[in-house]
Amino acid sequence: MIRVRKMERRDVPSVCWVVQAAYEFLADEQGYSRKQRRRLLEERCSPEWVGPQFLRWRSFVAVSGRRVVGALAVNGADIEELFVHPEEHRHGIGTRLFLKAEEVIADDGHPHLIVRTTGYAVPFYEGMGARVIGKERVTCGPLVGWQCTVLSKDITKKRRRARPVASPEPPRDPHAT
Ligand SMILES: CC(C)(COP(=O)(O)OP(=O)(O)OC[C@H]1O[C@@H](n2cnc3c(N)ncnc32)[C@H](O)[C@@H]1OP(=O)(O)O)[C@@H](O)C(=O)NCCC(=O)NCCS
Repeated sequence: MIRVRKMERRDVPSVCWVVQAAYEFLADEQGYSRKQRRRLLEERCSPEWVGPQFLRWRSFVAVSGRRVVGALAVNGADIEELFVHPEEHRHGIGTRLFLKAEEVIADDGHPHLIVRTTGYAVPFYEGMGARVIGKERVTCGPLVGWQCTVLSKDITKKRRRARPVASPEPPRDPHAT
């Protein structure tokens, strides 16, 4: 069974493990150059990067048994990070994390959710109801110059509404038929 809970500092090594496996997977899938791959693995998978990167935002982990198998970081209306360990793909874990992102972003009152992705995840996000709204160039970091796709989802219907207070039943007319 998969459980999604808030990420804590003690999760940082496990999240590093998930992020590293995900970047190795993406490097093969998306044909990153050797330099891009090396920079991603060296610069973006260490506890010194992953800890502050995830914990400064609203971050969550997906846990299977006692193992962390996915991670999410939300910043305002943006999904900044969403990773599932490649051995666990297509088991619904990405969906659980996406729904958590929608929930927290909608509860904060944002009408739209935004996510930027380098390509592989586009069909996943479209399946979640997001639509492509543009393309951007990555401006810094290991993937500088790479084109990323920007997607958005209208989440206004997700916002929690205050429950209507139940009005008391009108007194029954004993003479009514
Ligand atoms: C994208 C990602 C988060 C999806 O996670 P996941 O746990 O495999 O997703 P789910 O199992 O919840 O998939 C739900 C549905 O999304 C769609 N989907 C998921 N991955 C897909 C893919 N590679 N291609 C096409 N559709 C896909 C499918 O419709 C899937 O349903 P199905 O398995 O019943 O067909 C995961 O592949 C991942 O971590 N990738 C590497 C990191 C990454 O790209 N992150 C996004 C950065 S913004």
